[in-house]
Amino acid sequence: MVDRSKLHPYLTRPIEVKSGVAGIQRPANFLESIAENPEPLMEMANHHIVSARQFNLDRMTQVCRLAAEFEVMPHLIHKPLDGKIMINAFYEPSTRTRFSFESAWHRLGGDIITITDAGTTGMAKGESLPDIAEMFNNYGDAIVLRDSNEASVYNMLESLRIPMVNAGNGVDEHPTQALADIYTIFKWRPELTSLDLPENRRIRVGIIGTPGKMRTVRSLLLLLANVRHAIAELVVINPNREIFSAGQREELEAAGLNISIADRLKDVLPELDVVYINSIAWIGDTYETLTGDLKLSIESPLKDGAIILHPLARGDELDVSLDTTAHNWYFAQARGAVFIRMALLTTLVERISQVLDAPQPTAEEA
Ligand code: CP
Repeated sequence: MVDRSKLHPYLTRPIEVKSGVAGIQRPANFLESIAENPEPLMEMANHHIVSARQFNLDRMTQVCRLAAEFEVMPHLIHKPLDGKIMINAFYEPSTRTRFSFESAWHRLGGDIITITDAGTTGMAKGESLPDIAEMFNNYGDAIVLRDSNEASVYNMLESLRIPMVNAGNGVDEHPTQALADIYTIFKWRPELTSLDLPENRRIRVGIIGTPGKMRTVRSLLLLLANVRHAIAELVVINPNREIFSAGQREELEAAGLNISIADRLKDVLPELDVVYINSIAWIGDTYETLTGDLKLSIESPLKDGAIILHPLARGDELDVSLDTTAHNWYFAQARGAVFIRMALLTTLVERISQVLDAPQPTAEEA
């Protein structure tokens, strides 16, 4: 006989299905608002993805559209990557990126080789990255690489004959995280893709952190420049100076972003529609966390309807009291990353035609 009084309360009731959680709704609105155009995706076949600079508005919109198809229509997952092998080489810790890439590849029917410690490879004996890349050509059909050394991604490029995805290279870039961020924003407001967006529908985006030292922010800002027509102002909130890397702000402003800087979060928070917060900024091999009033909680003066994004993992800058509010789009952001990665991987290994030719959704699925 089970003594229910001795059980943890979560063991005595069914798992709660949180269908009403913010941002988890089906992305049907976004899917309906974007016309299918496979051309920008076809061009990506057998190409590496190293930088957010490789994505213009068309390309990132079509990647998001394909991700939405995967998210809305599970029956599209009819194993288009059957027979393909992905090499997942993560030489730096990861929860979301590694597992979501693996989840994406598994959902598409492929097989995976995972490396989580460079010390178990020939690197421990001094083998060069180009030589390891040469071997990867024989063992897999795509490689996903995370390395705390910025240069590693570039050192492998010359030897690789299979597409590589940069899953975070030091402080430099994290382009697929930025695509997951943009996908979340497009699901929230599909109209932002439109070049005819009325001025009064433009949004204010706040970036809490250090753009020069946060790889997710560095990539996201490059993608946000593609939707400059939809951004009235981009406010970076940080009391410190020298928060951009050399030439970064100039490049973004030349691309058309209207950038301002605020010292204090509470001064600008009530005006922001999207609040992007990150926890750490890298300085060489070490990192610094956010300080001062750069923290969000249920007490923060957020605008009605504002969404919070965070690439996670979080520290105390993002309080759990916000998890059950409509401002929480960060969990949806992490969930959407699986579908973005499904779209990218299908595209890179030239299996996109198998997805686009799949049967269309029933009325219930759409
Ligand atoms: N967003 C992100 O890169 O998380 P992980 O470090 O857990 O992969």
